[in-house]
Amino acid sequence: MIIFPCVSPLFTLLLFAVSTGSASPIGVPDLQQCELAMDASPTDPTMTLTLNCCLPIPSHKPRVFSFHKYKSKPRVRQAAHTVSDDYIAKYTRAYELMKALPDDDPRSFHTQADIHCAFCNFAYSQAGNGSVPLQVHFSWLFLPWHRWYLYWHERILQSLLGDPTFALVFWNWDDQRDGGNVMPAMFVPNGTALYDMNRNQNNLPPALVKLRPTTTGNDSAIVNQNLNDMYQDVVTATTAELFMGGAYRTGTDLSNSTVLDAPLGGTIEDGVHNGVHFWTGDPNLPLVQDMGTFTTASRDPIFYAHHSNVDRLWDKWKYDLPGGRRADHDDSDFLDAEFYFYDETASLVKVKVRDALDNSKLGVSYPTVAADELWVNYDPPVVSNGSAVPLARDAGIATIGASPENGTIFLGSSWSAIVKTPSSPRPTTSKATVLVIQGLEVTRQSFVSLTAFINHPYANTLTDTSSAEYIGSFNIIPTANVKHRHLTANVKFEIGDNMQRVGIAQEPEVVITMAVTGVEPISIQGLLIDYE
Ligand code: C2O
Repeated sequence: MIIFPCVSPLFTLLLFAVSTGSASPIGVPDLQQCELAMDASPTDPTMTLTLNCCLPIPSHKPRVFSFHKYKSKPRVRQAAHTVSDDYIAKYTRAYELMKALPDDDPRSFHTQADIHCAFCNFAYSQAGNGSVPLQVHFSWLFLPWHRWYLYWHERILQSLLGDPTFALVFWNWDDQRDGGNVMPAMFVPNGTALYDMNRNQNNLPPALVKLRPTTTGNDSAIVNQNLNDMYQDVVTATTAELFMGGAYRTGTDLSNSTVLDAPLGGTIEDGVHNGVHFWTGDPNLPLVQDMGTFTTASRDPIFYAHHSNVDRLWDKWKYDLPGGRRADHDDSDFLDAEFYFYDETASLVKVKVRDALDNSKLGVSYPTVAADELWVNYDPPVVSNGSAVPLARDAGIATIGASPENGTIFLGSSWSAIVKTPSSPRPTTSKATVLVIQGLEVTRQSFVSLTAFINHPYANTLTDTSSAEYIGSFNIIPTANVKHRHLTANVKFEIGDNMQRVGIAQEPEVVITMAVTGVEPISIQGLLIDYE
């Protein structure tokens, strides 16, 4: 017989530490160990770009951010299409000053753009894990990293202007009524510091922004599809994991992961955010530069306005949607993740994710946008009639289950499966019914977009996405770093709201259809419908 002695508090503590897993938040990388980023065009080898986005290494020790050391004046970021001519002149002046700094100055526009390139294109390894590259997209790091990036960028612009109340503008591309859904006029004229020549020339005003890269149709069709993209990506993405993305810790490897540990991008990132990157970049360039590939995206001054809107939508999601306040992740590996940026004195500064969660502490606010109501209250029409499962079964569409029972499934340009729904009713504690596309693999050489539907077995890449059968899109930016372009990811979409609207909430099985645009083969390991 084994007798357990009385359990000491230390022993309890140890047990607890073991059972919750060891903490492994992302730490700051060693800036001395930098790899040149390389982007190759699959169609034109002469277009291979070797990009040195290795960051300047300061001679003194990095500073550590605190709200006390870095005081911020309250400032309001306004919508780009609403600011005055004086404001545009000032904004232009700020970028002129930034662009006039020598390239190796950490505050220069050149280095500012390199910061994004370095952390999105695998220039550095994860601290404490030299074999795994550091990446700030495709996971819960996406929103806080970009918030910090804007914060320091804005501080530098303020100091160059000598105006601590100067604020970035936001590109209100989600506004489908009051003029926000075109390229903002302030960025359009050739020859100013806000101009970038590498943009899609067919998308200059008055062309409407398409939030899903393969959206087609006339202006009113585009508007409704945009509203549904916002509704699906922001309103029905009720959990932190759905909206912000999933865990990324030391050791998470985008290229070499399994269904169990594959990273997961949030709907805001994979959906409308990537959609606007693609829409803005020049499709005649092999990687849709500048905005269409992460390496060059922030060489376009419109990038910072694009991300201000993403940042605004994070606040909107958290504080201002029906159903009450939504919660960010609270995992300590999220809160304690650390990044490097440069401050307005060109010093390196170390920041934590936890200090980025409250914009008001950073001095940042956004005005109320009346047109938000259009997508918040969007009421997608139902186009199907009853469950499509019998039809799909007659057509020979197979039933697909969760990994690992399927092996590897290659999706063609349009692919459907019958998928079982959970056998028990949704518990009251659950916030969402979720479709998980497990272990999606793709080579990120060129642009790929996956559009997903429920109860719509004949949907294809041209199908209108304004209906309740549309569940979301997963857009893959061609960051084609030759060494690290293989991606394994899980993808999640909330489908409970769609099922309810379509009238199939009680069905034991549903039909899922995925239409794929692009030339890269996509495979998956399985489909799972679950409660979260
Ligand atoms: Cu770091 Cu919009 O991408």
